[in-house]
Amino acid sequence: MKAAVLCEQPGELVIEDLVIDKPGPQEVLIQTVGAGLCHSDLHFMEGLFRTRVPAVMGHESAGIVQAVGTDVTYVEPGDPVVACLSIFCGQCRQCLSGNPHRCTNGRATSRDKEAASRLQRADGTPVDQMARLGGFAEEMLIHQNGLVKVTPDVPLEKACLIGCGVTTGFGAAVRTAKVPVGATVCVIGCGGIGLSAIQGARVAGAGRIIAVDMSTEKLDTARLMGATDTVNASEVDDVVAAVKEMTAGGVEYSFEAIGLKRTAEQAFEMLDMGGTATVIGMVPSNSKLEIRGIELLSEKKLQGSMMGSNQFRTDIPQMIDLYLNGNLLLDEMVSATISLDQINEGYEWMKAGTVARTVISFDA
Ligand SMILES: NC(=O)c1ccc[n+]([C@@H]2O[C@H](COP(=O)([O-])OP(=O)(O)OC[C@H]3O[C@@H](n4cnc5c(N)ncnc54)[C@H](O)[C@@H]3O)[C@@H](O)[C@H]2O)c1
Ligand SMILES: [Zn+2]
Ligand SMILES: [Zn+2]
Repeated sequence: MKAAVLCEQPGELVIEDLVIDKPGPQEVLIQTVGAGLCHSDLHFMEGLFRTRVPAVMGHESAGIVQAVGTDVTYVEPGDPVVACLSIFCGQCRQCLSGNPHRCTNGRATSRDKEAASRLQRADGTPVDQMARLGGFAEEMLIHQNGLVKVTPDVPLEKACLIGCGVTTGFGAAVRTAKVPVGATVCVIGCGGIGLSAIQGARVAGAGRIIAVDMSTEKLDTARLMGATDTVNASEVDDVVAAVKEMTAGGVEYSFEAIGLKRTAEQAFEMLDMGGTATVIGMVPSNSKLEIRGIELLSEKKLQGSMMGSNQFRTDIPQMIDLYLNGNLLLDEMVSATISLDQINEGYEWMKAGTVARTVISFDA
């Protein structure tokens, strides 16, 4: 089966023909239908975060179950599913305390080190899977706790976006920050994650949602998603001053959805007293954020968010209901649909900042 493989860091993706194993007892083989291009893969391709190579990239995918392992009872062949990297063991302290997205027991949901790799090259070289999913591939072999069954009413080329981007952004607003009705919100960065945070804030009933980006097209899409105001960061001298002026002192909730030191600091600086900044972006591991200590005296808070603090087996079906009844916009988030072979071009568009989400359609 064809897959997009990262062979070195930094490096582009190479389309290879790989051998995929049969499902182990807890594993599910999925025929991929749609896969979204998330910026996290690009961070790895650029070498900002280390990963084992060779590895099939991709972690925002949906498809149809083809085969299941002997101990799988949750799904059966033919079921439409969305994959999510928040693979939970259901037994560790984080899982049992209601935070399965922070599961610490990855070993329980992975193959033993001595066992055959799920993916291999024809010469037997083991190939890793990004986030233990490897979603940029015609087929995925994953643990059953890394997928959720969804209604056949949802097109899988759209539902795949919920697997990472929408769950992350929407969840950051609704679950991690718990944006309340009427709140004043700012979202910095309007790619797939930021647009989803804007939608989460809108569904939560935020009174004002300020979107910040450097691209006019992104800001237009942000308005469609629910932003009430926009700031073009390439047209103002000081984003923080602009947001403070618009809100007479600062926002109650801010979100950083880019992954840069400076914009994460801006998210904190633009808060009103008592406000909460949530950094969603993956800030490179060698950068440290700087905030003025005295600002903590006014009870400002800085927090992170992992995968929108999700409980995806229940959240994703709810988000699909929101999509089907028109409250969650997914179609409008897709700027381009491509084939697997065009994946590097898709990532070039992301680097240029010209697209919201690009989706690989495996039927194309
Ligand atoms: N916390 C998590 O669990 C989690 C999950 C998924 C993704 N992420 C991270 O979220 C971040 C965003 O991902 P994405 O896929 O939406 O990326 P993206 O590239 O699609 O979007 C980033 C947006 O930021 C804008 N931008 C860039 N520099 C800017 C600046 N200085 N000021 C204002 N806007 C600027 C770009 O124009 C673009 O619209 C990435 O760092 C990704 O790794 C985190
Ligand atoms: Zn992602
Ligand atoms: Zn766990």
